[in-house]
Amino acid sequence: MIMRTLFLIGFCFIATVSASPLRYDSIFSFGDSLADTGNFLLLGALAFPVIGELPYGETFFKHATGRCSDGRLIIDFIAEAYGLPYIPPYLALAKGENPQHGVNFAVAGATALDAKFFYDQQIGKILWTNDSLSVQLGWFKKLKPTLCTTRQDCTNYFRRSLFLVGETGGNDYNYPFFVGGTIKQMKAVVPLVVEAIVAATTLKLALEKLRQKYPQARLINADYYGAARRFFHTPLHDGEFSFKRMQQCKVSGSTLTLKVP
Ligand SMILES: *[C@@H]1O[C@H](CO)[C@@H](O)[C@H](O)[C@H]1NC(C)=O
Repeated sequence: MIMRTLFLIGFCFIATVSASPLRYDSIFSFGDSLADTGNFLLLGALAFPVIGELPYGETFFKHATGRCSDGRLIIDFIAEAYGLPYIPPYLALAKGENPQHGVNFAVAGATALDAKFFYDQQIGKILWTNDSLSVQLGWFKKLKPTLCTTRQDCTNYFRRSLFLVGETGGNDYNYPFFVGGTIKQMKAVVPLVVEAIVAATTLKLALEKLRQKYPQARLINADYYGAARRFFHTPLHDGEFSFKRMQQCKVSGSTLTLKVP
């Protein structure tokens, strides 16, 4: 009933072009099932059709929306916190529609690395989608002229935008595991395999570099891994620990990066 996918390691980071007090008028989101609010379902959800049925959506929306959850996702709570409408999935936009409050480009099952990488490793066939992070960024670039036109216009618009990147990258680890790989084999397939702690540290350093390069952007590291670790270490501490709960917590890895356009 709940996606079997275990997001071992993934990265999440948040960027905004503002140094002024936090107040966002729009949200742009990239990533996978932890953030997807409908793109994968709109693509047909062939690899995971049950996402189109209850109990997906049952506790909040009362119908399946394409979210890998029985209710809202973190991105929905963030939108609510800023008084914004739920961010529409990119593939639901009508042609020429101007989604002023932002767009969600995340696709369930998406990888951070391009699909070609997995095809080259002979495991491309199990990918749920080819819409990796770079594909999603391509969608964003395509949509950008409908959001703002002149440089000044865009600066003004994006300085009040929140970019959520991730969680992304968890599936890059999941797929090799799905084909029965051990950690050892996975290291041979995905050369970047690193433990979450190491990944988090590496990403913190990368973020620091980005902060220096783009001082006008505010880059925030959202540490899913640290937040989730408690549940792994003391699963019974807070009462019954269910997979459902874990899913609601959106268990994942750590951090990431992005260059604000
Ligand atoms: C992904 O790309 C491959 C190779 O181009 C193609 O064969 C496959 O059907 C695509 N998969 C999806 C889910 O679109």
